[in-house]
Amino acid sequence: MGAERTILKTQVGIVGGGPAGLMLSHLLAKSGIENIVVEKRDHETIRTTHRAGILEHGSVRMLTETGVSDRVLSEGYRHEGIDLRFGGESHRIDFEDLVGESVWLYPQNEVFTDLAAARERDHGDVRYGVSDTAVVDLATDTPKILFTDSDGRDFEIHCEILVGSDGSGGICKRSIPKEARTDNFIEYPFAWFGILTRAAPSAPELIYANSDRGFALISQRNDEVQRMYFQCDPNEDAQSWSEERIWDELQARVDGPDGFQLTRGPVFEKTVLKFRSYVCEPLRYGNLFLAGDAGHTVPPTGAKGLNLALADVRVLFEAIDSFYATRSAELLDGYSDKALKRVWRAQNFSYWMTSMLHTRADATLFERKRALGELSGVVASRHGSAYLAEAYTGWPNT
Ligand code: PHB
Repeated sequence: MGAERTILKTQVGIVGGGPAGLMLSHLLAKSGIENIVVEKRDHETIRTTHRAGILEHGSVRMLTETGVSDRVLSEGYRHEGIDLRFGGESHRIDFEDLVGESVWLYPQNEVFTDLAAARERDHGDVRYGVSDTAVVDLATDTPKILFTDSDGRDFEIHCEILVGSDGSGGICKRSIPKEARTDNFIEYPFAWFGILTRAAPSAPELIYANSDRGFALISQRNDEVQRMYFQCDPNEDAQSWSEERIWDELQARVDGPDGFQLTRGPVFEKTVLKFRSYVCEPLRYGNLFLAGDAGHTVPPTGAKGLNLALADVRVLFEAIDSFYATRSAELLDGYSDKALKRVWRAQNFSYWMTSMLHTRADATLFERKRALGELSGVVASRHGSAYLAEAYTGWPNT
C-alpha cells in the first residue's frame, strides 16, 4: 500500500494469458473492442509447460480462419483415427470414415506461441509476469483488476466486462462468493505418469491401451520426440523410476500376440499428472465471466481441455461482441448456459473414456470383464465407434 496505483480503463479486462485469454483478446481486438490481458507467469514459463496435444477440427479452424496462424497446418500432424488397444489387440477407430473429420496433433505450447505472436504482431496489451492480482467490484458496472507489474508498479484496471481465464488454480473463480456458485467435482483414484522421449514414433497414430496393469497412451510430438503416459498411483514418485522400468511398464501395457513393440529412446522428462473433473456453475458472477480451466477441468483422457477452452471463448466472444454492437445483454446472459452444455457433454466423454480405459487397483474380475465387454462393444459397433469419433473430433458448434 502507500504507493499510488495507476488507473487504466478498458472495455474488457482479462485475467490469464494462456490460450483462452489470448484467443479472446485476439478476437475482441479484431472486432475493435479494447482489452487488456494480465498473466502471472512469464512468457517462457507458459511456452515450455507441457500440456496435451490434440486439437479438434473446430479449434484448428479457429486458429487459421481468424488469422492467428496457419502454422498448425504446416507443423502439426493430421490424424484421421486412433487405435484402441485391449486384450493385446489393436482396433482402429477411423474418424474420417465414421464422421468425416480429423484431429491435429499440435501441442498446446505451440498454440500459445502462435497466439502470443499474433497479439504481439497486432500490438495487443498483454502484461506477463504480474503479481498480487485481485479482482474486485465484480457485481458492479465497473469490475476491476488490481495487480503489480513485473517492474513493481501498481495498477488498477477499470473495465466493463471482466473475464477469468486464469486456469484451474486461478483467483477469479475463488473470488466468486461461495454462496453464488456450485462446485461440482470428482477425484480419481489414479494419475498419469507422463514422459517425453527422444525416439521415432512407435505407431502412425495415437494408441489408447487398456490392460490388466492399467491404461497407457502412446502419443507423439514429432518425428524425433514422443509423448507417452501410463496410469499410476497419484502419490507415485516419478523421479524414482529408472528408464528401463518405465519402458518395461509401458511395453507390458501394450503387449499382445501381434508382437507390437514400442520404439525406446532416452527419457528426458518424467512427471506425475494428477487430475479431477470439475465444473463451476454458473460460469458467471455479476460482470465476471469464467472461460476454460478457470471454470472447469476434465481428465486428460479425451484431450478436451484446450478444445473446451476455445469453445468457451467462441461463445463468450460472440456474446461480448453482440453486447457492444447492440447494447443488449441477451447473449451475455445466455453465455453460461450455452457454454455449460458443451462442458457437460465433454465431462461425460472424458469421464467415459477415463473409466473405460483405466483399471482400478481394486477391480474385481467381474469389473475387468465388464470393461472389456464395453470396449469390444465400442469397436464392434459402427454406432459405438461413431459416438467416440464424433466426440473426439469435436461436436459441431451449437
Ligand atoms: C498428448 O499428446 O499429450 C495427449 C494426447 C491425447 C490425450 C491426452 C494427451 O488424450
